[in-house]
Amino acid sequence: MDRRDFFKISLAGGVSLALVQRPKALAGTSSSFVPSNSKEYFDSTGSFTQQELIELAEKHGAPLYVYDGDLIIKKFQEFRKAFQDNYPKVNIHYAFKANTNLNVLSMLRKQGAAGECISTGEMEMGFEVGYKAEEMMFTSNSKSLSELEFAVKKGVLINLDSIPDLENLIEVCKKLRKQVRVSFRINPDINPHTHKNISTGHKFTKFGILQSEEELLKAYKMAKENSYILPEGVHSHIGSQILEVEPFLENVEIVTSVALKLKEKLGLELKFLNLGGGLGIPYYDNQIGLTPKKLAETVCPVIKEKLKNFKNLPELWLEPGRYFVAQSGILISRVNSVKLTPYKNFINVNTGFNHLARPLLYEAYHRVRILGERINFSKDLQEYEVAGNICETGDILAQQRYLPLPKVGSYLAFLDVGAYGFSMSSEYNSFFLPAEIMKKRGSYYLIRKRETLQDLLRNQITHPELKT
Ligand SMILES: Cc1ncc(COP(=O)(O)O)c(C=O)c1O
Repeated sequence: MDRRDFFKISLAGGVSLALVQRPKALAGTSSSFVPSNSKEYFDSTGSFTQQELIELAEKHGAPLYVYDGDLIIKKFQEFRKAFQDNYPKVNIHYAFKANTNLNVLSMLRKQGAAGECISTGEMEMGFEVGYKAEEMMFTSNSKSLSELEFAVKKGVLINLDSIPDLENLIEVCKKLRKQVRVSFRINPDINPHTHKNISTGHKFTKFGILQSEEELLKAYKMAKENSYILPEGVHSHIGSQILEVEPFLENVEIVTSVALKLKEKLGLELKFLNLGGGLGIPYYDNQIGLTPKKLAETVCPVIKEKLKNFKNLPELWLEPGRYFVAQSGILISRVNSVKLTPYKNFINVNTGFNHLARPLLYEAYHRVRILGERINFSKDLQEYEVAGNICETGDILAQQRYLPLPKVGSYLAFLDVGAYGFSMSSEYNSFFLPAEIMKKRGSYYLIRKRETLQDLLRNQITHPELKT
């Protein structure tokens, strides 16, 4: 290990240990980021006590996803208040993709959230728990004709990605003889300073209409002149896990300029501006996050000032996913074995990127805790890789972590996995999808059963003829 990568921390016993990996490029991290050297670092598991998590895992088995429902609501309310305090008309669409458990969808709707959907599956899930068509919007860079047909028939607003997307939609509307409300996603060419795989608003990505005046005016003109299409808004989502306010500021400057241009050139006053999602959360101990308050206080005045000559100030739409659900979730796994080698030490657990894809997809960092271990800080900690059970070299869920030696069978928890955790899981290597538990007002609810062999087999069809 390169010790320069680590902070040296002097512990009470006079032993100097490098406890916590210094993140290499920590987007949005303030210089006051300090890794914790306290016992709490190893003990804290967010909203849940270690004992509580152990008991849940004993009862329901591991791997197990556990969520704090009260925290989801708190995060939503905090976000909404921040924007409502700074802007008169706010409409928050929860990005379903972050966590599509029906209980999460319905508790957020109850709070007043609308829904941002990527597929007919997500729209159907919204309908399933009571979202009305006008409370959902459908965004995708690649929509099939049948998906467009579904959204038009139901009356869901469609967020168009390009002029060819609009042309497809016009064909569908003609066939169905039905009008549809739309917005266009623009590509503002902004670097949001986050991982490249979740940067969505720079010019080399597949998303949105590039910010050329000609192209944008052409799109809105086509839409405005077509009797089936009702252009109501503009949309721009620049990426995810963003912890700096500057990219959001750049985005709102561009989005408002587009709105002004549409008014000036086409006489079109938009009803809403959608600034997308993307607000990040602190994944590291003591990392400084960006608060919704700071974000709202930065972007809202720009809209109010720049669009003050609009007859009606447009509604402000936002579509966060991660911010509401990430910190509520913990994935509990079980330690299968510990393997020490001259090069690396591995804690092998009974889950992998099939259940938590973020480390592999985005080099994401999740804090890990070995539940119920008593730690002797002066000697117990060693550097480990937490290795998943998927047969792929890349299946390392946490790298270079100082942890106590776990016993076989003890539980290891990954924190902050409520967003893009379960929703990205798969049955790769034929492991069962985990169960999910939600805690709300002190009670625990099983919100998804663990899969069984029947689930793995249910859609497979075997044919005697194919045996030979
Ligand atoms: C179009 C769109 N809106 C909103 C979101 C939600 O982003 P986040 O979870 O970072 O808030 C995403 C995430 O990928 C997205 O693609």
